[in-house]
Amino acid sequence: MKIGVIGLGYVGLPLAVAFAEAGREVVGVDADPAKAEALNAGRSYVEDIADDTLAPLSERLRATTDYAELGSCEAVAICVPTPLTGAREPDLTYLTAAATALASVLRAGQLVVLESTTYPGTTRERLQPILEGSGLSAGADFNLAFSPERIDPGRTDYTVRTTPKLVGGLTEACAERARELYELVCDEVVVLSTPEAAELSKLLENIFRSVNIALVNELSQLCDRLGIDIWEVVDAAATKPFGFMRFDPGPGMGGHCLPVDPFYLAFKAREHDFYPEFIELAGKINRAQPGYCTERIARALNEAEKPVKGSRVLVLGVAYKPGVGDTRESPALEMIGLLRELGAEVTYHDPHVPELPQLDLSSVDLEQGLSDADAAAIVTAHPELDYAAVVSKAALVVDFRGVTRGIEAANLVRL
Ligand SMILES: NC(=O)c1ccc[n+]([C@@H]2O[C@H](COP(=O)([O-])OP(=O)(O)OC[C@H]3O[C@@H](n4cnc5c(N)ncnc54)[C@H](O)[C@@H]3O)[C@@H](O)[C@H]2O)c1
Repeated sequence: MKIGVIGLGYVGLPLAVAFAEAGREVVGVDADPAKAEALNAGRSYVEDIADDTLAPLSERLRATTDYAELGSCEAVAICVPTPLTGAREPDLTYLTAAATALASVLRAGQLVVLESTTYPGTTRERLQPILEGSGLSAGADFNLAFSPERIDPGRTDYTVRTTPKLVGGLTEACAERARELYELVCDEVVVLSTPEAAELSKLLENIFRSVNIALVNELSQLCDRLGIDIWEVVDAAATKPFGFMRFDPGPGMGGHCLPVDPFYLAFKAREHDFYPEFIELAGKINRAQPGYCTERIARALNEAEKPVKGSRVLVLGVAYKPGVGDTRESPALEMIGLLRELGAEVTYHDPHVPELPQLDLSSVDLEQGLSDADAAAIVTAHPELDYAAVVSKAALVVDFRGVTRGIEAANLVRL
């Protein structure tokens, strides 16, 4: 079986690698020629995929910008971005472009699976008509299904193989084809009755996280007023072996998924005159958190008798989460902007993010950065940093991730 993957990013590349490792011939199509070129030269640009992983697959995994190569595949997975527009509505332009290009090479007997996160109805209402522009009929001439990607970049305890895969087909035969495809690389495939159920399941997973993060973020602000340590409270609640799931407070939500996906559902709900309040409320609280955390830095500097204006602030960690170099929607970027607006001189250190061209910054040496700064703010806690050493070297530390728990020091403030 030859398999095609459209969109070779954080989602598509690991999937393409998994199929190639399972012995299949894989053609990856990406709109970005630099990515195709890098992969064909054995160079990975996704942190979870090492160059050493690509090397033995060079015979089976090829990348191209040319959709024509997909014509000879039995199955094609679509893994293109699904961001929000400036008005915070679903931006399906990448999906539409990919589907239009695929329709021009689609042939009878193929299976097409959408993996990109999106609102319920996208596969049937948006993807199917574009693919049927080929003259072929979904469910009759070709198979169509939705199977949400559940990858968590940087995670090593669960992989493509060990994370159960959901599939929802347009017809039973579509679902069966999709199940057969994913059984090549996943130990467990769970078949749902429709693509819509699979689309909504993925959104539920992300909304669940967003709502619970908002809850604990809001509590962190209340704890500040009550003089209670939020970290002690979360640690204590997490000792309950049932009925509680741990979520930690922080400077806000980042990444391509949590700040974006819930609004796909809110958009669809509005079409049905339904206003999902949990989604909007969680979004509101989480989006306000970078501002609140910036204010905490200002307050800590004030205690040290320093105005924000003219103070040097070192941001530790600008990726959206530990262990990765992805800065999409990272709250650190917003905090840097807010600190600059207040007149602070901001630098950053991040072992995974050497440059932030959009802010005209480069990662500084940690020792130098700490000794130069009036305050160091731990915004993303990469595991390789020694936070006890940070506290001992910095003039002032503001910890938004709780990694200094257990340390008591006059120069240390925690969320
Ligand atoms: N990153 C994650 O952790 C994650 C997890 C689960 C689900 N998802 C979902 O998976 C989808 C992809 O996310 P990602 O993080 O891999 O995005 P990404 O930006 O890392 O990768 C998408 C790739 O698609 C390519 N592309 C864009 N338009 C194209 C087109 N018309 N034809 C071919 N290639 C095209 C881009 O060049 C890019 O390489 C999104 O819907 C996202 O919500 C992401």
